[in-house]
Amino acid sequence: MLSSPNIAFIKYWGNRNNELRLPMADSLSMTLDHPNAEITIQEADTLEIHSYTMGKERKIEGEHLERFRTHIELTRRYLAGIGAPKALPSGLHITIASNIPPSIGLASSAAVFSGIAKTIRQMIDKRVELDDAQTSIIARLGSGSAARSVIGGYVALAAGEDNAINASRAWQIAPANHWQLYDIIVVPSQTEKSVGSTEGHALAHTSPHFAARIEAIRTRRQRECVDAILEKDFEKLQRVSEEDALDMHHVMETSNPPLKYLSQETHRIVGEVKALREKEHLPVLFTMDAGPTVHLICTDEAVQEVRSFAKAQKGCTVFEAKVG
Ligand code: PMV
Repeated sequence: MLSSPNIAFIKYWGNRNNELRLPMADSLSMTLDHPNAEITIQEADTLEIHSYTMGKERKIEGEHLERFRTHIELTRRYLAGIGAPKALPSGLHITIASNIPPSIGLASSAAVFSGIAKTIRQMIDKRVELDDAQTSIIARLGSGSAARSVIGGYVALAAGEDNAINASRAWQIAPANHWQLYDIIVVPSQTEKSVGSTEGHALAHTSPHFAARIEAIRTRRQRECVDAILEKDFEKLQRVSEEDALDMHHVMETSNPPLKYLSQETHRIVGEVKALREKEHLPVLFTMDAGPTVHLICTDEAVQEVRSFAKAQKGCTVFEAKVG
């Protein structure tokens, strides 16, 4: 089963329950058509993970293996809760063939865990039929943002309220053909980050700015972003999503210990994009996840210029995707 990353306009950062990856606030993204990861799952005696990135085998051991083990255990717990305790075989052989460079802010884990959730759905459909929301819950148990990649187009992840395993789920706010947006992805460095987002979420509460961020999303930002997408209002989308991305990095940089995901290169690219759009009046916005990678989101009208700008960035790798 093929699966791809998503890029968030309102970012998920910080949990109210780390074990179950129950977010503190809602988030919102567009699912991308590219690059992708292909997941296959077969019955086996134990849990085995084989992972290949760009055709090269990556050993999954230690805490990485533990993350998959925990995900499968939580998935079993969730399935038991909906009356299907034996739906999954006791051992699984999971193969991941990914075209996404890991740990650089390109949401490779979102593609992997959404792919696992979709493949599990297909695998157990004779025993229990899962809908998209239920599949998003299974994805969320491995990576919060993966919940949004289960569904295509423009997708919100509702934080929910209590501590139940199914409290937070994703839903589609508009299909992909509602609005053709592109994501031109500029990767300045493929060095893997040292603190992954699982650890990062657990530190969010230590930032003095975290509470205000959550309040802003709950009272205003998520709503504004949904409206911007439904109204196809690019200026509004730009304002709210850039505000939210910079705010998330402010929280990261003021947590204890501080998390600095953005590099000098990131800031240089962002500065140049701002100058370019001012000069040319281009509908393009920037956003960054947990890494130095800059996502340039734009409409049809701007894509050619944004593509040329991205390709002119020395030493950077460029990926091109659109909503999918
Ligand atoms: O799903 P995780 O645990 O990898 O967290 C992803 C967090 C961000 O990518 C930084 C933001 C987001 O909403 O995608």
